[in-house]
Amino acid sequence: MNKEVLKRQFNTERPYRCVAQKLISENNSALVYKGRKDNKPIAIKLSRFSHGTRNLGRFYSQTEHLQSLHHPNILPIEDAGHILFSREQKRQEAVPFMTMEYASNGTVRQSSKQEGFTTEKALSHVDQVMEGLIYAHGTTLGDEVLHGDLKPDNFVIARDVTKLIDFKGGFQKGPGGISVKSNAWVIGTFSYMAPEVFCTDGIVASDIYAMGVVAYELVAGKLPILADKPDAQSWYAAHTRAEVSEINKLDENGKVDHIADAIFEPVLQAMSPNPKQRFASMAEFRHELKEAIDRGKYLSDKAITSLS
Ligand SMILES: Nc1ncnc2c1ncn2[C@@H]1O[C@H](COP(=O)(O)OP(=O)(O)OP(=O)(O)O)[C@@H](O)[C@H]1O
Ligand SMILES: [Mg+2]
Repeated sequence: MNKEVLKRQFNTERPYRCVAQKLISENNSALVYKGRKDNKPIAIKLSRFSHGTRNLGRFYSQTEHLQSLHHPNILPIEDAGHILFSREQKRQEAVPFMTMEYASNGTVRQSSKQEGFTTEKALSHVDQVMEGLIYAHGTTLGDEVLHGDLKPDNFVIARDVTKLIDFKGGFQKGPGGISVKSNAWVIGTFSYMAPEVFCTDGIVASDIYAMGVVAYELVAGKLPILADKPDAQSWYAAHTRAEVSEINKLDENGKVDHIADAIFEPVLQAMSPNPKQRFASMAEFRHELKEAIDRGKYLSDKAITSLS
């Protein structure tokens, strides 16, 4: 759907001062604008699909999840609805949208590109996101809510707090699931996707796997797993092999980064190709990560002490 027409339609239709201004992100399925409502900056996410198209389910499941989750590390939806849109004189179509607080510090990916991270800062982002996920996975509203697309582009920093956006997990992938032979039904981002997600719907363990990838990436500054080619099959093969090299990192003083070293073990467990070999819950992964960080700190302190 044409983005200029969609934006114009949004700005004409909304009954109150909610105006889309600057495009901050676009892909095949959604447009995200920085806008304002009553002089307050907001983020507006517009679907590129209208009613009756099956891709829309993804947008709805996201709106539904975000409306049911209330946690400091999950960015809430402020408003959601539809705009009516006439395409080429045909009957009107309803296009869904949602609005959220605008996170002026951008995403964790953007922040890491601009400033780079110390290991501690990286792990603070990971820890905050995990808190949101522990809540979502254990929500009492019925089935657990999975995220389904964990990556630093889907964590925003709003007033110094790291928050999850872009929940996809609960969406059913349609009859027969997906196939590694086709990208058609793949929801998520290949580089963070547990092997099972290439073949079937995600489970809690798939979010744990993705958080293992994220923790490694934010600390090491590079992805733990790379594929030979960018297609689903090659990524599936790479995740199934799970050949992950240790994190060799120096700290700010040019010494071995013991914390980066210490988290390798729990991260590797989270990234086991077999979901049964991962942690039983996100809470368990978080706990083990914290223990590893403490071990790393202890070794760092000892290294500093022995210098003086
Ligand atoms: N509330 C927000 N504040 C600031 N920037 C945002 C906000 N929401 C989204 N963005 C920006 O827009 C990008 C895309 O948003 P989002 O992840 O929700 O959608 P998407 O990944 O494009 O859509 P899809 O659901 O189709 O995968 C984010 O990575 C971020 O850069
Ligand atoms: Mg996203």
